Amino acid sequence: MTIQWFPGHMTRAKRQIEDKLKLIDVALELIDARIPQSSRNPMIDEIVGTKPRLILLNKADLADPERTAAWSAYFRALGHETLAIDANVGTGVKEIPAKTRELMRAKIERQISKGMNPRPARALIVGIPNVGKSTLINRLAGRNVAATGDRPGVTKGQQWIRTGSELELLDTPGILWPKFEDPEAGYRLAATGAIKEEVLHIDEVACFVLQVLAAEYGDTLKERYGLPDLPDVLPDIQSAVEVLEAIGRRRGCLTGGGHVDYEKAAGVLLRDLRSGKLGRLTLEMPPTVSDKLK
Ligand code: G4P
Repeated sequence: MTIQWFPGHMTRAKRQIEDKLKLIDVALELIDARIPQSSRNPMIDEIVGTKPRLILLNKADLADPERTAAWSAYFRALGHETLAIDANVGTGVKEIPAKTRELMRAKIERQISKGMNPRPARALIVGIPNVGKSTLINRLAGRNVAATGDRPGVTKGQQWIRTGSELELLDTPGILWPKFEDPEAGYRLAATGAIKEEVLHIDEVACFVLQVLAAEYGDTLKERYGLPDLPDVLPDIQSAVEVLEAIGRRRGCLTGGGHVDYEKAAGVLLRDLRSGKLGRLTLEMPPTVSDKLK
């Protein structure tokens, strides 16, 4: 389902999350390991405030492991705990309860010193559409409790899902909006399937992807589509279009008149990217921490 975000929606979504945050100890911020910055909500720091937060780099199975490590180091340098996970098969998910408790150690110690029995940590999963919130809730619950798909604004009674003895999870995640204002972020979100293809032209998305891949993963591109002369830099859209055309010819994406069907060629490229056929790729690198702190 496509969500049309507009300012009223964003204000309402923010308020809904803030209401849920009042109920929990720790926020689990789910992001896409292939586009860690573009898949973050631009106001996340303001929304989560001082609530302890664990950043979960999901879909790590599809991301470049070296870059996932670089992003994890970046977020840790900014003071956040991180875990790289694959919610689909469960890699890393078992570590979430212990990490969550670590984040609320001070609170637990206070409870113990007052003679109280520490209760399980209470957490809320927050993230943009399609990042894997429902998949993770179901994985942590060990059964299907979350409906996949996004229905912002649909409210029902809050329920706690017990996941072992250490963690309780709110059954409805907090749905955040992605970074619409930055056009490159938009292309990355469309490339990974976080926003629907109709929102941006698929061939423009493919050209952006080709520019990134030529510079960062040129060998993969050369090998997959038989492009031995691919340059490292595709300096403009025209040069990217030429590569898309070469891919289209190789893959038989032709119109009746024998011309390349760019949309079809773009579809081939993006399907290969999303399904991991181009290997494990990350489409953006972390800024240096000193840039961020300026
Ligand atoms: P949401 O609640 O945040 O909107 O996301 P949801 O759980 O519905 O997941 C969106 C898509 O992402 C699903 O794919 C899901 O299988 C996939 N996904 C979630 N976590 C991971 C992960 O760690 N790795 C990979 N590779 N995929 C993940 P889908 O195409 O909608 O459905 P399907 O492929 O399961 O049929």
